[in-house]
Amino acid sequence: MGGVTGLVLVGGFGTRLRPVTYTVPKQLIPVAGRPILYHALDLLPPEVDRIVLACGYKAEVFEAYLQANPYPRPVKLVRETTPLGTGGGLKNVASEATDPFYLLNGDVIAGFDLEPLSRTLTEEGGLGILGFVEVEDPSPYGVARFDPAGRVVEFVEKPSREAAPSRWINAGVSLWRREVLEAIPPGVAVSFEREILPGLLPRKVLGMRYRAWWEDAGTPARLLNAQALLFDHPRTDRLPAPSRLDGARVLPPIAVGAGSSGEGATVGRYVTLGRNVKLRRGARVENSVVLDAAEIGPGALVKDSVLGPGVVVAPDERLVGVCRALEDPGQKA
Ligand code: GTP
Repeated sequence: MGGVTGLVLVGGFGTRLRPVTYTVPKQLIPVAGRPILYHALDLLPPEVDRIVLACGYKAEVFEAYLQANPYPRPVKLVRETTPLGTGGGLKNVASEATDPFYLLNGDVIAGFDLEPLSRTLTEEGGLGILGFVEVEDPSPYGVARFDPAGRVVEFVEKPSREAAPSRWINAGVSLWRREVLEAIPPGVAVSFEREILPGLLPRKVLGMRYRAWWEDAGTPARLLNAQALLFDHPRTDRLPAPSRLDGARVLPPIAVGAGSSGEGATVGRYVTLGRNVKLRRGARVENSVVLDAAEIGPGALVKDSVLGPGVVVAPDERLVGVCRALEDPGQKA
């Protein structure tokens, strides 16, 4: 089977990953050697032969990246001129949707198989089906309650912990009949989860409760956890990223971009280095992501951190749990 479109939302500002997202959009930050987006796209089943990115913020960076590093399946970019939110962003790419179509948040990292969504929607009927995962604290997410047959009967976006109807949260993956798009007003900013989804429930929306690993790479800590999960669950159909760093002490798993060097440094576990990163003698990097052309000074420590392109870490400096970039308007304020 083929001919299904995957619509992917990547237009958010990624505010929780500032200042790095002032230059690199969240979905293009590499984890375990590849951009978050490419790991997310891997979730789309083989029947998806066309991917459409609903872009807004930093659309030109996506365009340049995709051109230089093509994803194995065709990817088209559609730009929003003003941010339309998750509902408006979806509506803006409505003409690209097949019936049914997959809808994916571009920052979902998971060990899911999405094919059961298609099987269940075909067998049981309904307007759509969303994937859910169970978490300890559901309050930062969209939370659902189900009837015994697995139909979603309540959906609340970011409830208080006490008001959450369950601990099952929207995993950011779903499959919809095309007619869902008629419920979204055109040309205006709308949140799909807050303003559209609750009103769709009477028309039968199903839930698929997954028990596999999952992470939304939206904060520095979660992004690093997503990276560790990806390293620990490598896909069998992808070659592992190159993990050599000549002259360095390597504690696998790590992923190293072209042109990076680390003579006399220590790297790992769970580290991604972008391209042309320089680790000086005695530097140590652990559980971190260090983007292109960054330089870690001699004897410095970088741990549990995300460093943007070109960041320079001073000799013997200790960075633990930081998210840092060259361009940081927040610092000037
Ligand atoms: P934060 O600002 O840190 O909350 O991150 P975010 O902007 O990515 O927001 P959030 O994680 O809630 O967004 C969920 C998904 O929807 C992400 O994949 C976003 O890129 C995407 N998204 C959010 N707002 C828009 C928008 O206005 N347009 C489009 N096309 N996508 C959006």
